[in-house]
Amino acid sequence: MKEKKVSEAINFRRAVRVYDSNKKIDKKIVKKCIEQAILAPSSDNLQLWEFYHITSPKKLKQISYACFNQPAAKTSQQIVIAVVRRKLWRSRAKMNSNFIKKNNPKDLNSKKIIGAINYYEKTIPNVYSDFFGILGFLKLIKSKIIGLYKPANKQVTYIDKRIAGHKSTALAAQNFMISMSAYGYDTCPMEGFDSDLLKKYLNLPKNSEICMVIGCGIRSENGIYGLRYRVPLKHVYFEK
Ligand SMILES: Cc1cc2nc3c(=O)[nH]c(=O)nc-3n(C[C@H](O)[C@H](O)[C@H](O)COP(=O)(O)O)c2cc1C
Repeated sequence: MKEKKVSEAINFRRAVRVYDSNKKIDKKIVKKCIEQAILAPSSDNLQLWEFYHITSPKKLKQISYACFNQPAAKTSQQIVIAVVRRKLWRSRAKMNSNFIKKNNPKDLNSKKIIGAINYYEKTIPNVYSDFFGILGFLKLIKSKIIGLYKPANKQVTYIDKRIAGHKSTALAAQNFMISMSAYGYDTCPMEGFDSDLLKKYLNLPKNSEICMVIGCGIRSENGIYGLRYRVPLKHVYFEK
C-alpha cells in the first residue's frame, strides 16, 4: 500500500464520524500505525502509555456503549484506545536504565553514561515519588523558593505529572492518526466517554486514565460533518 507524504496525510485527516460498513480496514496496518504511534516523544522518555486495539465485535459494542454510542464509535470498524499509565513510572525508568547499560557496556564508567543512569535511577524517583500529592506540593514550595533566585521547574505536582502523561500520550495518538491517514484510513479522536466503564471493559486499574478513544475505519459519503474550520493563523501565530 502506497503511503501519503506527511503534508498529504495531515491534510487528509479529518474527524470522521461515520464509517463505511462495506470498506474493511486491515488489522495489521492499524497495528503498524500503533507501532508508529509509540515513536512519539514522551516526557523523560518514560512512555507512560498503553494502546488497546479493539477488533472483536463484542468488545467494539461495549466500547461504543461506553462512548454513548456516538456515531464515530458505533460505526467504527476497529477502535484504538490510548491510555495513560502514570503508575508505571518505576518500571519504565528501570527499562530505560537497563537499556542504557546494555547498549553502553564499555562506557559504564563514563561521566555521560553514569549521568544518564543516575537520571533514571535517582532523579526520576525523586521527581515521580509522591504521597497523596503531599510531596508534590512540598516540591512546588521548594521550587517557588529556588525560583526567586534562578529559573526552577515548577511542574512538580501530582497534577503536573498527570498532565505530562496526557501530553505524551496525546502526541502518540496524533502520530497514530497521521499514520492511519497516510494509509488512506480514517479516524476520530473522542473524549466523549464514560471512563469508569471503559476501564472496566479493558480491565484497567483505577489509577489508569483514558487519554483518547480513536474510532477507525474508512469514511462514508456523509462521514465528515462540515468544512474544516480553523481559527486564522494571525490569531494563533506570534513571532517575537
Ligand atoms: C481530545 C479530542 C476529543 C474529541 N472528542 C470528540 C468526541 O467525543 N466526539 C467527536 O465526534 N469528535 C471529537 N473530537 C473531534 C473534534 O471535534 C474535531 O477534531 C474538530 O471538530 C476539528 O475537526 P477536524 O479534526 O475534522 O479538523 C475530539 C477531538 C479531540 C482532539
